[in-house]
Amino acid sequence: MKTEATVSVETRIEDLSHDGRGVGRIEGKVWFVEGALPGETVSVKRLKGRRSYSTGVVDSIIVESTDRVTPKCGYFGICGGCAVQHLSYPGQLDFKKKVVSDAFIGAHVPLPDHIDILSADPWAYRRRARLGVRYVRKKGGALVGFRERNNSYITGLEVCEVLVKSVSDLLPSLRGLIEQLSVRDQLPQIEVAVGENATALVFRHLKPLTGADRNALAVFGELHQTQIFTQSKGPKTVTALWPTEPDPLNYPLEKFGLTIEFSPVDFVQINGEINERLVEIITSWLDLNHQDEVLDLFCGLGNFSLASAQTAKKVLGVEGEPSLVQKAELNAARNHIQNVTFKTRDLFDEGIVDWIEGNFSKVIVDPPRSGAREALKRVVDYVKPEAIAYVSCNPATLARDSADLIESGFYRLDRLLVADMFPHTAHVETAALFRRVS
Ligand SMILES: C[S@@+](CC[C@H](N)C(=O)[O-])C[C@H]1O[C@@H](n2cnc3c(N)ncnc32)[C@H](O)[C@@H]1O
Repeated sequence: MKTEATVSVETRIEDLSHDGRGVGRIEGKVWFVEGALPGETVSVKRLKGRRSYSTGVVDSIIVESTDRVTPKCGYFGICGGCAVQHLSYPGQLDFKKKVVSDAFIGAHVPLPDHIDILSADPWAYRRRARLGVRYVRKKGGALVGFRERNNSYITGLEVCEVLVKSVSDLLPSLRGLIEQLSVRDQLPQIEVAVGENATALVFRHLKPLTGADRNALAVFGELHQTQIFTQSKGPKTVTALWPTEPDPLNYPLEKFGLTIEFSPVDFVQINGEINERLVEIITSWLDLNHQDEVLDLFCGLGNFSLASAQTAKKVLGVEGEPSLVQKAELNAARNHIQNVTFKTRDLFDEGIVDWIEGNFSKVIVDPPRSGAREALKRVVDYVKPEAIAYVSCNPATLARDSADLIESGFYRLDRLLVADMFPHTAHVETAALFRRVS
């Protein structure tokens, strides 16, 4: 075996890290190897050496995993958008299950008998994205795409297999559009939001647009029937350019007969199909009835609140972002739902809270990556519902908060589900159901 100091070293890969890199050992030291899969023996080129670990990238594969597949995307390995396209789709689902079970085992939370899986079409699913833009004359003009894997460069994408197809199809013409603009080197990003009724692009610009720029953007919007917005500073400066009064974007929750409206910079779950099925699963897990009062924490636009309100007696949705609360209220009104109210509250606040007031029998929590520790402490101390459904985008904080719930002595973990919201990436969405035991 060669040593770490040489250009390439050989190792057997034992595991996949939570971010999708192969994990091996060379002379006792852990190596995280991009592009390597468990069971493989690979030759590795070193990227970085740290005291306790090294990072590298596969140089050549000596023994190949039976789970290895040819990535569909030609940018795979360079583009930072996807991490595990080289792993078969069933292999990706097993990997995500393992990330969740490792997190639970690490937090000393007993796992249920099995972890359920929710998956849908793993391609062309992404309805929300932030695309980076860079104008580099020497590199042939404008680059539009996700950041590269190990640096802040932009991958110039002509196609993207995970973006909704109508948006992927726009990538080459977006490049041409940016090259026409006077602000082409002052335009760092384009936000993409795809609704059931329309697609919107939000162009962030650091210098004022000229009349010719505005005209070029409007012509692009009309030609591609895509709503165009501009953004000069924070989210409040997002302004419609074409059409000047666009219809709000929307997505359906068909089973509930709901249409949820949103603006192009609002939080919506990235994968529409998985979202719809997840809402169905959460409401069915909670087995809602006409006596139930439901508390939906981190409720956003009312995704879970409005669906729950179709069955429950009443629902309170709590959310930190005032503009989302305002839209949740509008969504309730548009869908003729009267048994739901919303409050704007900081759910990480450790002071006195009023959202615990009520007779809540069921609670839904769907926090950001940092989890819901403070909010759940209040739920356990003051609300003690029959059941808590927890939707999480970070297995580590889910496992930590699950341990708190179980250690309280009032809850047991009943169901655990991995929902593949982000196929081909290492991101893991999980749902857990806790039932009160005492
Ligand atoms: C994962 S999203 C879930 C949104 C919603 N449940 C849905 O399904 O669309 C997390 C939500 O938590 C909100 N949030 C983040 N920090 C918060 C805080 N400190 N207090 C209350 N809400 C917060 C975000 O604005 C976002 O709407």
